[in-house]
Amino acid sequence: MGALPQPIPNLPGWRRLALADVGSTNTEALRLAAGGDPGNLWVTADRQLQGKGRNGRTWISEAGNLYASLLLIDPATRTALANLPLVAALAVYETLKPYFAKTPYALAIKWPNDILVDRQKINGILLESAGLSDGHLAVVIGCGINCVHHPDNPLYPATDLAACGVSVDPVTLFDQLSDAFAKHLSLWNRGAGFHIIRERWLMAAGGIGRQVTVNNGDFSITGMFEEIDHDGYLCLKLDDGSRQKISAGDLFFDREEK
Ligand code: BTN
Repeated sequence: MGALPQPIPNLPGWRRLALADVGSTNTEALRLAAGGDPGNLWVTADRQLQGKGRNGRTWISEAGNLYASLLLIDPATRTALANLPLVAALAVYETLKPYFAKTPYALAIKWPNDILVDRQKINGILLESAGLSDGHLAVVIGCGINCVHHPDNPLYPATDLAACGVSVDPVTLFDQLSDAFAKHLSLWNRGAGFHIIRERWLMAAGGIGRQVTVNNGDFSITGMFEEIDHDGYLCLKLDDGSRQKISAGDLFFDREEK
């Protein structure tokens, strides 16, 4: 018989399925949802053989980094779900922040949910969802944190905790990550507490007030990053003075940022 989910100590109502090798913890969590899992379940793995990144990219997943996916069932209305990426980013940011307090590095959230250390990416978050046969919605928040490895990617320069002089193993980091998610999901309160998340997210964000470019498959748009509005949209002020709200894409800083 395969491994079974176990209760997470000190987090009543939350469970964890800890695996050694898996294709993708996100895919595994969605598979469990389709089989009737009630959610509030973390799926973790030592290594992923088919780790998934955003926009169809591969997430290289050697042993030593953290790979964890949180399965939620019907976590909020469809409208409120749009700001779940910001909740996830803040939870990961708060998990990492204490480790950087005594380092020379600046930690910042890059919209929507990357954490940058001196402009180098140290994590990835991939949200996926699937309608279930009983009408419910399964949402998976997949988090990868670079503990000892990072990919060599000129488009998205990356780093890892060890390269920043921070020593923490994925087991310890998972305990802190699961605590942070429980806390921030509770603050978010199925969307009713988004104003609290928004305020904290804005405090942690890099690039506000600066020129940025956002690319998604359909467009590339450059403007001044004004804020995240109360619905969670990125607000850009364009050169002609008009404003544009954006829900998804990859953000690039046009100049040096924190
Ligand atoms: C990104 O491209 O920035 C998102 C990467 C997300 C990677 C994590 S690792 C755990 C989970 N399982 C996956 O297959 N992907 C996510």
